[in-house]
Amino acid sequence: MEAVNNEENRDKPGSELGYESIKQLIKDGNKTIANLPEREVEPAQDNLFLKLSGGNIISEQEFIERSLKENQFWMRIMMEHAFALRIPLPNEATKYIKKSEDFQKSFEKQLHKALHETAKEFKAVKKLNEESINLLYEAAEFKEKVFKDNVEGKYRGLFWTMEAEHIRREPLYVIKTLQRLNKRIERPLREDIIEENEFFLKIMAEHGAFLSHFLDMNEDELIELARLFTTKFKLLTLQARNIEIEPPTKTAILSHLTIFRGATITLHDFLVEVSRLAGTGEIRGVMDPNLLGHVTREAAKYLSVLDRLEARVKQQH
Ligand SMILES: [Fe+2]
Ligand SMILES: [Fe+2]
Repeated sequence: MEAVNNEENRDKPGSELGYESIKQLIKDGNKTIANLPEREVEPAQDNLFLKLSGGNIISEQEFIERSLKENQFWMRIMMEHAFALRIPLPNEATKYIKKSEDFQKSFEKQLHKALHETAKEFKAVKKLNEESINLLYEAAEFKEKVFKDNVEGKYRGLFWTMEAEHIRREPLYVIKTLQRLNKRIERPLREDIIEENEFFLKIMAEHGAFLSHFLDMNEDELIELARLFTTKFKLLTLQARNIEIEPPTKTAILSHLTIFRGATITLHDFLVEVSRLAGTGEIRGVMDPNLLGHVTREAAKYLSVLDRLEARVKQQH
């Protein structure tokens, strides 16, 4: 009975647990904290994120190889985005259709430079990166406009808002990657692991969502599979954010990377099969087989990022 009364008194002004008592309690608490002995907190020795919190400078050779690879992959992707954007836009978005064609040509040129015209030496590669960054900024600005108009319903067509947001996000990622490369910076392990995985896992989830909407309404089984991939990759995106909580030991990080790899290999194989079926006309829908190739290559790119991350973790003792 007494306990019940105390509970009731708590909210009453002027009671023994009122404002003054709370102030006193805080004061006492502060005194206790002030009297605690000084202790140095040792970081857990097996926490790889703390151990490698400084980042590195990569060698000139690595800079050249990685820069060329990134350009050769992403300039093609950006060229295809321009195509993906142009195809589903309706007539009222003519100005965007024309601009997309221009971007398609510019990225094709830049891809050619990255593949055939850039000498494998520091200065030339740095210049290539700078040019790509400038072009990517222009493309990102353009995609931002297309996305905003989509959100505001200024045009309709078969261009989904999520797709507009997705292809707006990818050039921003590439800009950051090339900027870091041009400074020859390898990020601290924590940023590298969390940000790369979050970016790619979210992308994979969205590819599943696109596919489920591009297939014909009768393709129930494939639509269901595409949705399952979306759900799975959404969960994995959250898992990537939580890696640092565990704590991130070498074993824990490697086991997360193995899980991400397994899911991505399955998605990649599924996309390869869907591309084949779409190419032979065995399945129907509104997707262009070229764009199925695009998302399949992005899954393969993520697998190569996982290779690099895994190698980086494994070399730590
Ligand atoms: Fe893409
Ligand atoms: Fe994508």
